[in-house]
Amino acid sequence: MSSIIAPSILACDFSILGEEIEMINKSDAEWIHIDVMDGMFVPNISFGFPILDAVRKKTTKVCDVHLMMHQPERYIQDFKKYGADAISVHYEACTHLHRTIQEIKSLGMKAGVVLNPHTPIHVLDNIIYELDYVLLMSVNPGFGGQKFIPSTIQKIIDLKKYIQSKNLTTLIQIDGGVDLNNIVAIKEAGADIMVAGSSVFNSANPIETITALRNK
Ligand code: DX5
Ligand code: ZN
Repeated sequence: MSSIIAPSILACDFSILGEEIEMINKSDAEWIHIDVMDGMFVPNISFGFPILDAVRKKTTKVCDVHLMMHQPERYIQDFKKYGADAISVHYEACTHLHRTIQEIKSLGMKAGVVLNPHTPIHVLDNIIYELDYVLLMSVNPGFGGQKFIPSTIQKIIDLKKYIQSKNLTTLIQIDGGVDLNNIVAIKEAGADIMVAGSSVFNSANPIETITALRNK
């Protein structure tokens, strides 16, 4: 069964960003994943608006912005302005999560909540009805190229059951360490959108890897 692949540009070669985006445009990926890190919520700083702006000008894909920052509500309007189609914010980083999700949706974007590996699914109880997608981190956020945490598979199975038990169609996105060896198990567990950074950009033929990840 095919699924949505979202290549993460965190792993791309920024000296040829335009070419990397053109490659994704030609591929079977439907989303392009943009990791914004603030150096506080996560121990790393990635990039911000100028890169999103550059991606937006070239990409034909859904601009999926993953905000790894404290109080992301400060910047939702700016991310909209610079071209986000979908924004996910961390449960662990938002005091007024409901308000932040409402703001994302009111600006016409898809809204997602991200859970760190240690955060249980039941924290979604009073917000799941508002979400287009839930992003389960399958590594601790902050860096590309980490190893997939195996217990994520059971968490996906549990989240799928949880969503179905509420008669919802919320999508499940998985981010971190996704590759050709584990993608079948991830899909079979119930995930819909797969973020893939290193496994795409470090491969000999990224376009073929994206197709393989999608169709495997
Ligand atoms: C990690 C980021 C991921 C990262 C994935 O904090 O949220 O999106 O780019 O990279 P890989 O696929 O290399 O684990
Ligand atoms: Zn991400």
